[in-house]
Amino acid sequence: MSAIGAKQRAREQPLATPSDGPALRPMSSLHLDAVLAVEVSAYAFAWSRGNFIDSLAAGHPAWLLMDAGDALLGYFVAMFGVDELHLLNLTVAPAVQGRGHARRLIEALIRLARERRASQLWLEVRESNGRARAMYGRLGFVQVGQRKNYYPAGFGRREDAVVMSLQIDPAAATKGGDALG
Ligand SMILES: CC(C)(COP(=O)(O)OP(=O)(O)OC[C@H]1O[C@@H](n2cnc3c(N)ncnc32)[C@H](O)[C@@H]1OP(=O)(O)O)[C@@H](O)C(=O)NCCC(=O)NCCS
Repeated sequence: MSAIGAKQRAREQPLATPSDGPALRPMSSLHLDAVLAVEVSAYAFAWSRGNFIDSLAAGHPAWLLMDAGDALLGYFVAMFGVDELHLLNLTVAPAVQGRGHARRLIEALIRLARERRASQLWLEVRESNGRARAMYGRLGFVQVGQRKNYYPAGFGRREDAVVMSLQIDPAAATKGGDALG
């Protein structure tokens, strides 16, 4: 199969999820109205529709978490590099935060990393985003660096990004556990 065919197949295959409870579905352009509604409600500096379209066109893994009535709970967009997976966007709808949905999305991200033999997950998070930083720390990510003036911060200012990473244990899947413990 061509590289493009393999990428497409990887995007279309649903990640395994428990049969009851929230379900993971691949994001497509048909979902972007719902995604954008959550995105602008969750961030002061939201991704644009074009950012999502570009990610989908590039074949980046992009998954939705939906409830039983197909309401959008959250989503992630990531990007594969050599031996690593870089998280570009992780968002949970404000009305349903604090119910374990980010944990579910990150568990899915880790399964995806293992399936593709990626040994590390990377992400950037705003220095001021204490909630997300605490959450990533709780899920096993460690701070590995800082990027100066990475994000826009209003009034022409910029804000630093904290770089965090999670080592993926390739053996954990076969043992039935995972890195989240
Ligand atoms: C950050 C965000 C993704 C968290 O989503 P969530 O669904 O509320 O998180 P969960 O309920 O799955 O919590 C995940 C873990 O983090 C912990 N956690 C959540 N908020 C926390 C906080 N303020 N302090 C410490 N730990 C926290 C939870 O206890 C949980 O750990 P546990 O399962 O071991 O108890 C969500 O608030 C969000 O979308 N915020 C806006 C967008 C954003 O900031 N995205 C991240 C950008 S890098």
